[in-house]
Amino acid sequence: LPTDIAQEQYSAKEIMAEFNILISDNISPVCTDIFTSAGLQVDYSPGLAPDGLLNKIPAYHGLIVRSATKVTREVIEAGRELKAIGRAGTGVDNIDLQAATERGIAVFNSRGGNTISAAEHAFALMMSLARNIPAAHGSMKNGKWERKKFAGVELYQKILGVVGFGQIGREVARRARAFDMQIIAFDPLIPEEVFASSHAENCSLEEVFRQSDFITIHVPLLPETRHLIGTRLFEICKPSLRLINASRGGVVDEAALFKALKSGVLAGAALDVFESEPPGNLKLLNLDNFVATPHLGASTREGQDRVASEIAQTVAAYLKDGQVSNLVNEEILGK
Ligand SMILES: NC(=O)c1ccc[n+]([C@@H]2O[C@H](COP(=O)([O-])OP(=O)(O)OC[C@H]3O[C@@H](n4cnc5c(N)ncnc54)[C@H](O)[C@@H]3O)[C@@H](O)[C@H]2O)c1
Repeated sequence: LPTDIAQEQYSAKEIMAEFNILISDNISPVCTDIFTSAGLQVDYSPGLAPDGLLNKIPAYHGLIVRSATKVTREVIEAGRELKAIGRAGTGVDNIDLQAATERGIAVFNSRGGNTISAAEHAFALMMSLARNIPAAHGSMKNGKWERKKFAGVELYQKILGVVGFGQIGREVARRARAFDMQIIAFDPLIPEEVFASSHAENCSLEEVFRQSDFITIHVPLLPETRHLIGTRLFEICKPSLRLINASRGGVVDEAALFKALKSGVLAGAALDVFESEPPGNLKLLNLDNFVATPHLGASTREGQDRVASEIAQTVAAYLKDGQVSNLVNEEILGK
């Protein structure tokens, strides 16, 4: 098209669209398709540098992110037109909730869309630890055949401790029951009947650490869960304990974990999430009884399509019709 016609069409589209949406992370195209079908104007700009985001944000009514974009107070204050922030995923620790709430900006997440992916990944890490699969694979790639070195343990009739018995924790427990594991769980915020219906024993955090052969962590990162798992609990666990964290980095104290693994206080650990991401020069990676993946819990085609679709529908319904679902900062409703 000649430039002037293209420009004219672009401006007409801009005028027609009531709301402009900026997608600043790598998100399934389903997200753009849903906004566009709803008549919203979408700018898909994954990988924006912090300065680029600050420059762009004043023109947008909605911002959609995964976890790479840091939605700081500065970004929120620069977003003069901003009405909604959508997180394609569960955790909202990359969004300054306080700043958004003060400005009456609704923050939404997509709950449940990546639950199965995250649960399956936690389970894959548990199997990897039990059977030394990553280390055995690495050894074979180096031309070795080390059968004795990589003998493992069964999951059958072992005790699985689940810390945080929400959606993902319960899905891991369901899968573990199919392996004939016994489930004990710690979650002070859910009613007793949830434990009962999931065939799990409701225990204190200390009891979970005393009894478990495997522990999997599924809590949000909050001030009260930061370094929830550290030396105090490693001191009371069985030396055969294998620990998995595919929730949020920072829930496990990495320095304490390094000491515990190195001294044999713990048999093994697998982390999908880290105190800082990427973790840089992580000492844990030098240990044979440690397995790591680069925050892959939600990274499946199915999970990403689901969260992209959920968050687009949620934010579009809010901007166009004022409908509210999956709102994280409910305090804005009273404003
Ligand atoms: N690795 C990944 O890529 C990935 C993918 C999806 C979700 N996640 C993370 O997994 C975690 C769990 O997600 P979910 O969808 O199951 O959330 P959820 O809200 O359904 O469950 C979290 C549970 O943690 C419990 N909890 C809160 N504070 C606690 C505390 N101090 N002690 C014990 N339990 C506590 C809550 O009561 C709740 O039942 C979140 O941190 C989420 O960000 C990670």
